[in-house]
Amino acid sequence: MQLREFRGKEFVNREKEIEYLKNRFEKNPEEILWLYGPKSTGKTTLIEYIIENELTSGLKIFDKYWIKYINFRGMMIGNYDSFINSFFEKVEKDDFTNEIKAGFDIGIFKLEAKILEQIKNRDKNMFHELIEKFKKINKTKILVLDEIQTLEDIYYNGEKELLKEFLNFCVRLTKELHLAHVVILSSNTIFIDQIYNDAKLKVTSEFKKIDHLDKETIFEYLEYKGIREKELIWEYLGGCIPLVQRCMRNVEYYDNTQEYLNYVVKLTKNEIIDLIDKNFDDREQEIFKDIIKKVLEFNGYVLPEGTKKEIYEIVDFMTKREIFFYDPLERKVTGNNRLYEKAFEDLLYSR
Ligand SMILES: Nc1ncnc2c1ncn2[C@@H]1O[C@H](COP(=O)(O)OP(=O)(O)OP(=O)(O)O)[C@@H](O)[C@H]1O
Ligand SMILES: [Mg+2]
Repeated sequence: MQLREFRGKEFVNREKEIEYLKNRFEKNPEEILWLYGPKSTGKTTLIEYIIENELTSGLKIFDKYWIKYINFRGMMIGNYDSFINSFFEKVEKDDFTNEIKAGFDIGIFKLEAKILEQIKNRDKNMFHELIEKFKKINKTKILVLDEIQTLEDIYYNGEKELLKEFLNFCVRLTKELHLAHVVILSSNTIFIDQIYNDAKLKVTSEFKKIDHLDKETIFEYLEYKGIREKELIWEYLGGCIPLVQRCMRNVEYYDNTQEYLNYVVKLTKNEIIDLIDKNFDDREQEIFKDIIKKVLEFNGYVLPEGTKKEIYEIVDFMTKREIFFYDPLERKVTGNNRLYEKAFEDLLYSR
């Protein structure tokens, strides 16, 4: 296990993922890279760590990479105009040297006022403008998009969805022009599922799962922290690092670790009960229970061919609510983390 410091916190491992990404960025961009995985596995932290510590230095002018990182989470985007306002910044003169100097830049693209006005009025296509901008930057370019599904419901040019246009732009940048690496992060696997099942995007995409940490890493980490109950913590929290760290912070307020873990399982179970009681009828509750039984029994439930629509609907619902994680590549349903699976156990056998 490797322990680094990132933003004043411990950053555990992720060696393989860091190597994988650095290696990819050395090559010619050929397809969009999707980093997907359960909630809170550390996708955002991983990419931010790599950008800040492995790909850029303090002296940005000398950096090999030009990186644009856009996190759509928290951006207040309700329509096309607010998207344009969040995405671009108006500058008097579009000076590319500034853009290049900026090296790693969070957020937005700077555009000349006149061009921005034309984009707003839809006299100019923003993606054409961006491609022209990319062409002028003489470095290895990386575009990172976090939580891009935020754009899902925004309309553009009447009927066309903005997201679709955006993804076409990403295909242009990678597969067609080989102009920039594009990395898209998401834990919303219903969304990933749609992409994965879109014939055109599938061939232009590479999917890489960022999963919770493995048992060996968690054991080494707990050992390093001087914690003896490694098996117990692994059994209840698995490799979900924020849950493990929270356990370490809070356990002192409980009689013992088991008591703390029982408490968090109870809370998680109540969250699920609330959701199913309010949303599922008796039949749906039965289907849900059947799914979670299989999740527990087989260590994840692979949806067989010919699975009924009513089952998909429950899986979709629980995935959107971040109770389930659905891996579209493996067609496998699990709890979003181990704690959910412990709560499933409790729900089935002691409710
Ligand atoms: N390798 C790691 N070592 C230590 N802490 C980590 C690590 N990765 C992530 N964390 C911590 O776990 C929390 C969740 O990480 P992060 O937000 O990056 O996950 P995510 O996969 O992007 O989540 P989401 O699915 O919500 O987008 C953060 O508080 C982060 O600091
Ligand atoms: Mg994230």
